Amino acid sequence: MDALKIRGNGPLTGIIDISGSKNATLPIMAATILAAGESRLGRVPDLADVRTLQRVLAHLGIDIKQDGKEITLDATNITEQEAPYDLVRTMRASILVLGPLLARFGRARVSLPGGCAIGARPIDQHLKGLKKLGAEIKLEHGYVEATADKLVGAEIVFDMPTVGGTEHLMIAASLAEGTTVLRNAAREPEIVDLAVVLKKMGVEIEGEGTERITIVGQKELKPFVHDVVADRIEFGTFLIAGAMIGESLTLRGGVIEHQTALLDKIKQSGAKVRVNEETQEITVSRANKLEPVNIKTAPYPGFPTDMQAQMMTLLCQAEGTSVITETIFENRFMHVAELGRLGAKIRVDGGKAIVNGGDKLSGTTVMATDLRASASLILAALVADGETIVRRIYHLDRGYEHIEDKLRSVGACIERFKEE
Ligand code: UD1
Repeated sequence: MDALKIRGNGPLTGIIDISGSKNATLPIMAATILAAGESRLGRVPDLADVRTLQRVLAHLGIDIKQDGKEITLDATNITEQEAPYDLVRTMRASILVLGPLLARFGRARVSLPGGCAIGARPIDQHLKGLKKLGAEIKLEHGYVEATADKLVGAEIVFDMPTVGGTEHLMIAASLAEGTTVLRNAAREPEIVDLAVVLKKMGVEIEGEGTERITIVGQKELKPFVHDVVADRIEFGTFLIAGAMIGESLTLRGGVIEHQTALLDKIKQSGAKVRVNEETQEITVSRANKLEPVNIKTAPYPGFPTDMQAQMMTLLCQAEGTSVITETIFENRFMHVAELGRLGAKIRVDGGKAIVNGGDKLSGTTVMATDLRASASLILAALVADGETIVRRIYHLDRGYEHIEDKLRSVGACIERFKEE
């Protein structure tokens, strides 16, 4: 198994290019199921989760070719409507193939998903929505089986804004008869990127990026050409690296507007932020002294739950007490114990983590527990005294493209090695 060896060694300086978004790539790839013909997707990040979904789609009969950052997906000859456990177990987003298979072929069977263990993460909202569109759903032997003669547009009100649920229903409704209205929809930028793609395929959509999305389904859709939007979580993770140990660390190729909630908090912490709207670059430098800041995660445009762990590492460096409230997932503080092994003083009380920052962290061996937690440990290792080994980084490879190369290029002392 791969691990990372990191030595905390002073400031990061230079430019990092932001990759395409993992969380936008996955639903867009699932949407290719909707139309016969060859779609082309550019700026695709080289990540384990993307390869996992490629394997699922190839199993269904989609012909996939890769040329660097561009993949072509030809969904003309889909021969299977079933995604088996072995292919989907590592990634929750695999459930997104259910809706488009059902919409195009009237039947689909997909194993219940796995993924990061950051909470119960049910899919009841996805299934409730598909039922509203006319599907019959059975849960048996760990599989979801959906059938429908045809899908018909409906009004669907989500119990909470769910990113995957909103995307799933947008995709399924694209081939439904008539109009679907999604209420209490999630507003994340990845949803907007998916809407751009569905429109290119011929769907009429309004309201993406708001809580009310209208989708006018079409009888037949066409393939598309699209470049994936920048990864705002990767962008945010490097912004935090800059706020902790940057000396003019510039991030290039991200969308600044997506960082509003995070930048507010980073600025409050005292780190120096220079935004260049024209080039969409941000340059971050650490402060002499970081201030504590309170954080509460919320659906977009609030503070992202996917940035909570990394922000916690930053706040370990702030002199004083910060309170982090996690409102999206109920079990998303697993990094606290590992940060504690590096010397951080954090107490968890229900959905809150109380961070008593200001102490120097000291390197040791830690274990990555989930995707974003892995990033928080790397950030901690970059400021810790001595050497830190981060084990189980397969989580990291699911969501951060070549992170060690990117960090090394701006001066970090980080290398990957194989553990016995
Ligand atoms: C997506 C992101 C993930 C991010 C999360 C929240 C992808 C591939 N993953 O995950 O990185 O952390 O959004 O921003 O885009 N819920 C239900 N029932 C459902 C669906 C969701 O109760 O049917 C709950 C979840 O348990 C959670 C909340 O709704 O408490 C939000 O989850 P959701 O937005 O659906 O997360 P994902 O789409 O899985």
